[in-house]
Amino acid sequence: MSNYHIKDLEEYYKVYRKSVREPESFWEEIAEEHFVWRKRWDKVLSWDFKSPEIKWFEGAKLNITENCIDRHLFTKGEKTAILFEPNDPKEAAEHITYNQLYKRVNQFANVLKSKGIGKGDRVCIYLPMIPELAISVLACARIGAIHSVVFAGFSATALSMRINDSDCKMVITSDGSYRGAKTLDLKGIVDEALEACSCVENVLVAKRIQSEILMKEGRDCWLQPLLDAASTECAPEIMDAEDPLFILYTSGSTGMPKGMVHTTGGYMVYTAYTFKNVFNYKEEDVYWCTADIGWITGHSYIVYGPLANGATTVMFEGVPSYPDCGRFWEVVEKHKVTQFYTAPTVIRSLAKEKLDFVNAYDLSSLKVLGSVGEPINEEAWHWYNDNIGKKQSPIVDTWWQTETGGIMLSPIPYVTPTIPTFATLPLPGIQPALMDELGNEIEGKQVDGRLCFKYPWPSMARTIWGNHQRYKETYFSTYENMYFTGDGALRDTVGYYRITGRVDDVIIVSGHNLGTAPIEDAINEHPAVAESAIVGFEHDVKGNALYGYVTLKETGESRMHDNLRKEINQMITEHIGPIAKLDKIQFTGGLPKTRSGKIMRRILRKIAGKETSNLGDTSTLLNPEVVQEIMDNAL
Ligand code: WTA
Repeated sequence: MSNYHIKDLEEYYKVYRKSVREPESFWEEIAEEHFVWRKRWDKVLSWDFKSPEIKWFEGAKLNITENCIDRHLFTKGEKTAILFEPNDPKEAAEHITYNQLYKRVNQFANVLKSKGIGKGDRVCIYLPMIPELAISVLACARIGAIHSVVFAGFSATALSMRINDSDCKMVITSDGSYRGAKTLDLKGIVDEALEACSCVENVLVAKRIQSEILMKEGRDCWLQPLLDAASTECAPEIMDAEDPLFILYTSGSTGMPKGMVHTTGGYMVYTAYTFKNVFNYKEEDVYWCTADIGWITGHSYIVYGPLANGATTVMFEGVPSYPDCGRFWEVVEKHKVTQFYTAPTVIRSLAKEKLDFVNAYDLSSLKVLGSVGEPINEEAWHWYNDNIGKKQSPIVDTWWQTETGGIMLSPIPYVTPTIPTFATLPLPGIQPALMDELGNEIEGKQVDGRLCFKYPWPSMARTIWGNHQRYKETYFSTYENMYFTGDGALRDTVGYYRITGRVDDVIIVSGHNLGTAPIEDAINEHPAVAESAIVGFEHDVKGNALYGYVTLKETGESRMHDNLRKEINQMITEHIGPIAKLDKIQFTGGLPKTRSGKIMRRILRKIAGKETSNLGDTSTLLNPEVVQEIMDNAL
């Protein structure tokens, strides 16, 4: 059991040094001792950040579901694997044991096979947070199909783009979903999306809200009768360690979202190892991550990481404010949750409510609190620490990305002393570097720069689906022989890292990454709009909110502007989803541009942030006069 569970700071430094000195034997030992392989690897690692090409555990054979399910059956078949907590607190929670999960995943896998899905086929999953979501993900992995989960808050257009990009043969959805007091018509969205997708042959529909929906003859099937008729045995497809496990889309600063491709062996090893250490996971724990499985956090730390450790993982269907703002804490008390992992935006929104919502519940089961998705500000950190953790539960501020597959920088609870707003230290195997704008590494302490990694780790994405060139340009071309994250960071006197935010045109709103270009493209499709530019500005709950500067083809009367604002947000909702709506829309006669015609976002960002005292030199602009106009009318 060497190196696996780090127990004190001295051991952390020892393990960390080993992981840098001998990365291959470090990961090899972990892979060897903690997982089931059908065949051992020929080579632990081969890599080249120029091509780029990265391979871990090459030649090894395995199935990840054998590691997440089958191997636990002998020792903990009757233990709860997935604890499903429904949207409505009056509906009973469902405890799915490892034995039951085994059967349900196999049945689902057999249904997929009967519909012609096999190894390497892409399956799009567009489901709410119900057990079928986790089960369908695992069923794909069982037969070697590549799942592409799309968050069930994305619009029909966004869904169809993702389905077409990876040529999915099947869509798995439900008749609808519950979100607090509301229901959403997911099947209607799928139907609309599929008008633009010719690759999809079958749609499987889970029943959740019992609404009347249209079923298209020859394409759509209700899931349950098929599951009921399917065998509970399905032999796992034996995969190569480097076979793709899934595709997950993330927004880039430009154009089409990027379909990040994660492979099987390295992803499994890394998510399992980090889950164990970052959450101080112990056998009797009840672990709860509030993310949606539609995001990477849910893939790695609701499904794969916890199940690979044989943990009990909570899946929550609802929202933090329903039926009231005490819901999270009610669930913690009810299930005696030991680890609670959420996003700063959720903490900030709950911190605005009365403390009675918290104090009504017994939270003494908690032992680790986690944060992910965006920088956690000091105030939110203290609120979380004081009121939820009662100063007893360490907070792990975990920094990572869809692309990294697993947590990269984080305290290890009860090991690493924490400081608010610092993600602290790299986990073993992770080698960060800060770079300056000229491409030099910044050594030493008390420095800031752009966050990169100089050595591969097992769970890094291997490519962008269908576009390796874009993978290379986005992550490996800014700095030679480095993976570039797109984030800025500083390193303090003890070597702790603090993330300062994105340095590209991605804005994180309520923990969701949004590229500005796709939003601008959506707005520009409005017939009245000539041009637009989106920037972020600070928001006390969402972290950042979106501010849009829009020029119109004809200026029109200002009384029309409110209608236009609604229409613009409607366009965004249709093209991307409600998460990308603008908080502020300012109509302006022009946008500040450089002589080469590039929009000067730096100026727009400052105006949106009300930092107009120091706009820098605007005299080189093509149209300096618009700056004053924009300032005078700023919202
Ligand atoms: C940001 C989420 C500060 C960061 C797992 C990163 C964070 C982007 C943190 C990835 C954190 C994530 N502190 N910033 N603890 N965690 N970020 O792909 O800008 O949805 O690049 O992955 O979120 O977001 P993604």
